[in-house]
Amino acid sequence: MSETLIEVADNAGIVRLTVSRPKALNALNSAVISELAGVLDDLEQRDDLRAVLITGAGEKSFVAGADIAEMRDKTPEQARAFAGQALKTIKRLETLPVPVVALVNGFCLGGGCELALACDWAVASDNAIFGQPEVLLGVIPGFGGTQRLPRRVGPAMAIDLVTTGRKIDAQEALRIGLVNRVMPQAELEAYAEELTKQLGGNGPEAVRGAKQAVHDGLDQDLDSALALETSLFALCFAGEEQREGMSAFVEKRKPNF
Ligand code: HXC
Repeated sequence: MSETLIEVADNAGIVRLTVSRPKALNALNSAVISELAGVLDDLEQRDDLRAVLITGAGEKSFVAGADIAEMRDKTPEQARAFAGQALKTIKRLETLPVPVVALVNGFCLGGGCELALACDWAVASDNAIFGQPEVLLGVIPGFGGTQRLPRRVGPAMAIDLVTTGRKIDAQEALRIGLVNRVMPQAELEAYAEELTKQLGGNGPEAVRGAKQAVHDGLDQDLDSALALETSLFALCFAGEEQREGMSAFVEKRKPNF
């Protein structure tokens, strides 16, 4: 039997995915990407999904990038196919209708940083190291880094990171807005568990709408994006969550979503 490259653990709709290639610091090769795509086939079918957390096996690395050894001898056509396969899969993770949290320990480089950028949340331990070191290998980011990084941290800092290839520590990643929180390593697990529980406990339709408004709106001009917000806001009133949430407030009780 082939080894499991994406471990899946499920706790009442909160699903934890662990990229598990610790000997290569969890580098993403085509087998990992294919397995992730297979896991997403299942997750996309589930209507009880509340939140997804993605992390890397071990404490040394989230994901140290795409697999350099596998990429080394690729032709341009093969490189395009590999990037295309990964981009499509990462986009599917990004557009899951639930919050997706990257739990980052250690190295979060290249394709690993690009994977984290596709997540709604990134929480990092204080030993985390981020970077887009592709230029040091004679290439550019290919899993979305040149596009998602400037959208997350602004173009100046993105240009800095993708043209120098320099690594930054967790505090700098927090300062530039690449991650949402930094924790001492010993506290990270408990924090992530609490966060996913909290996110998973909010009304799923409202969370889905809020996420969709932010993501889809960013790709549109302001007026179109505001119109999208209005449509998604109005749509909330077609479901049960809005009535339950507002009734709970008025009745001074906790909502039951
Ligand atoms: C393949 C990798 C790897 C990678 C680490 N390993 N990163 N294998 N691809 N991205 C392997 C090493 O070869 C080594 O295998 C083992 O993991 C442990 O790594 P070491 O280098 O011995 O560890 P250390 O000295 O602690 O250094 C850690 C490190 C370094 C700083 C993270 O491994 C490193 O610089 N890795 C590459 C990071 C990188 O450039 N990432 C971007 C890749 S390009 P052995 O068998 O020797 O024990 C990319 C492009 C995305 O992501 C777009 C593509 C379309």
